Amino acid sequence: MYPIERVEPLNAEVTRMVVRAPEIARKIRPGQFIMLRIDERGERIPLTMNECDPEAGTVTIVFQAVGATTMRLAQLKAGDALLDFAGPLGNPTELEGARRACVIGGGLGTAIAYPQAKWLHEHGCEVDVITGFRNKDLILLEDEINACSARQIIMTDDGSNGNKGLVTQALQQRIDEGADYDLVLAVGPVIMMKFVAATTRPYGIKTLVSMNPLMIDGTGMCGGCRVKVGDEYLHACVDGPDFDGHLVDYDGAMRRGVMYRSFESAAREAAEG
Ligand code: NAD
Ligand code: FES
Repeated sequence: MYPIERVEPLNAEVTRMVVRAPEIARKIRPGQFIMLRIDERGERIPLTMNECDPEAGTVTIVFQAVGATTMRLAQLKAGDALLDFAGPLGNPTELEGARRACVIGGGLGTAIAYPQAKWLHEHGCEVDVITGFRNKDLILLEDEINACSARQIIMTDDGSNGNKGLVTQALQQRIDEGADYDLVLAVGPVIMMKFVAATTRPYGIKTLVSMNPLMIDGTGMCGGCRVKVGDEYLHACVDGPDFDGHLVDYDGAMRRGVMYRSFESAAREAAEG
């Protein structure tokens, strides 16, 4: 069993949970994920690492209560325990060598983009972080990102923080201002990653995106997490989750995402009773 050490809401939709898992805390790197199962009747879900503390032996996950399992997860308290917490899975994000990076987080994706920004900052890279949220009440990790970025730009869809617009508008503005990024990394909704890649393509800026398709086994066997990248079909769980943003078939990924939505709603309704 994996004891839960701390649970705290980050906003009305998003929860941060610190789990004791010393083996994983020693090995996990930014971009990698774990598969967890609450108990024997629960499904396995992938969650990408938000932070780890090898000395304390803890791994922090951040999740949005959107499906049956994440809703149950959000109800757990410090002192409860998870049955399974397996990992690290997937490949670490390739961050070595970047000197001027822009890390982009859309909504919850900000929590996944944060460890990459932190790693880059700690390894001498100048990091801009652009994040986007529907409104100011959903803004995540502002202080943590301030501590590891040269510049943080927070956009809101409704302008409620005084900075109205999408992350792609802020990125275009930074490029127009002369920011000479050698790496752009985007984590968030597929449609956001599609348009981030479209923004960087004309400038030939290396762009990595973190794909988050449905995962079942996390081992490359079930085919659930297939993503078309260039001419190949790859598996996000073993070949990713990061891919070259200029090669991903985003429209195909969005079509596959929609296919499972009715199953997820049915599971959520059953969980809500
Ligand atoms: P959201 O729908 O509120 O979008 C967040 C931000 O993304 C917006 O504020 C905007 O700045 C940007 N965005 C959205 N559509 C855009 C477009 N067409 N062009 C440019 N920018 C656009 O996000 P949410 O409700 O917090 O949902 C989080 C999403 O992130 C979910 O879809 C979830 O699956 C995904 N996610 C992905 C990963 C991953 O590893 N890729 C991890 C966690 C969450
Ligand atoms: Fe089954 Fe990736 S989750 S192949």
